Amino acid sequence: MDYAHQLLEREKVFRDPVHNYVHVKYQVILDLINTTEFQRLRRIHQLGTTSLIFHGAEHTRFAHSLGVYEIARRIIESFEENWLSTQPGDGLWDDSEKLVTLCAALLHDIGHGAYSHTFEHIFGTDHEKITRDIITSHTTEINHVLERVAPDFPEKVASVISKTYPNRQVVEMISSQLDADRMDYLLRDAYNTGVKYGTFDLSRILEVMRPYKDGICFEMSGMHAVEDYIVSRFQMYQQVYFHPVSRAMEVILNRLLQRANEIFSEEGLKHNPQTPYLLLPFFHHDFNLDDYLQLDDGVLNTYFIHWKRYPDDLLSNLASRFIDRKPLKSVKFDDSTKDLLPRLREIIEQSGFNPKYYTATDNSFDLPYDAYRPGKKQIQLMQNDGSLIELSSISPLVRAISDKQTGDNRFFFPREILRPEENVDLFQPEYDEFNHHIRNDQLIK
Ligand code: NI
Repeated sequence: MDYAHQLLEREKVFRDPVHNYVHVKYQVILDLINTTEFQRLRRIHQLGTTSLIFHGAEHTRFAHSLGVYEIARRIIESFEENWLSTQPGDGLWDDSEKLVTLCAALLHDIGHGAYSHTFEHIFGTDHEKITRDIITSHTTEINHVLERVAPDFPEKVASVISKTYPNRQVVEMISSQLDADRMDYLLRDAYNTGVKYGTFDLSRILEVMRPYKDGICFEMSGMHAVEDYIVSRFQMYQQVYFHPVSRAMEVILNRLLQRANEIFSEEGLKHNPQTPYLLLPFFHHDFNLDDYLQLDDGVLNTYFIHWKRYPDDLLSNLASRFIDRKPLKSVKFDDSTKDLLPRLREIIEQSGFNPKYYTATDNSFDLPYDAYRPGKKQIQLMQNDGSLIELSSISPLVRAISDKQTGDNRFFFPREILRPEENVDLFQPEYDEFNHHIRNDQLIK
């Protein structure tokens, strides 16, 4: 039996809190899971700083990746049973696509690193490009496993993840408005944060999902299950992903790495225990794939702990704020109040905080999440006559929350300014002026 079709003597199962079991039958899948690059995902949290707000959210990219694989496996199982192609071009499921789909599902996040979003901002890395490199570069264990299937197989798997693979059913199963990736992270993030509103009926959705010639759609009878998924997704963005304190901790992390970058990219580096050897290639803008694969949450957190004692006030203070969870305070602002920001920054500076490191503005639209927006390739329902209709055009519920301006602009600043007894160098008039503009999470005139 060739490697591509080689089955394990006995199916292997991974116990999973969301899907109960993750089933592995193919030797290729088990070999991928056992690679050094995939095992590294055990050491990277799925939600980064969100676990500082929802303490249960300690789940990893490893668990999510197995979960996406398992959902894709179940979708394929249902397609094999109900929608198997009998002749080329009939628009149904072609089972020769099974292995490439399962591998792409398993590996779709393989390029993610520690605190990905912020790390990429500071060091210019790109997890999508790194995902591709890990799969196609001859130096990785993952590439060796995939090459044993066929010489062009790594390239095929990478093209599914970068959405250029010709079979749209395969691409949409991994990445579309209702795909295995989103379904897993919504359920897993809801489960681990402990919130009760992120859930939806996965088994019902799998039941009504079907292939058609240009991709994947849903049977009309499944409309309510799909609506429920959209509402869950909306609530997770509002309550979990856009959480202002999590964003405040991201700001501190961003400033901490920015300050470290300024210090450690300089010539004449002192060699001492606080020197971040594993990060030096990034500070020097000269890193390779192997350097990237050395990093995980533990490596970064260890440096942050060392930096609490570094002889630079900014670096040590920012490291303490991050490690000891001292978030910045934030308020919403809009076009009518944004002209107040320069004056507020001035007051912050007078109080002894460098605004470059201790203030920020951010917009939740910048986060790597989005709401459901009807557009050209969206969730499609198949009507009785076989024609397709876009979900929001027949669902008033989805229409009500689609395309809404659900993000907000926030101004971040040290919370000590609101409590000047805490060693802040501020005179009463400035203190009063600052406080006058802050009311109930809003900036006011
Ligand atoms: Ni993912």
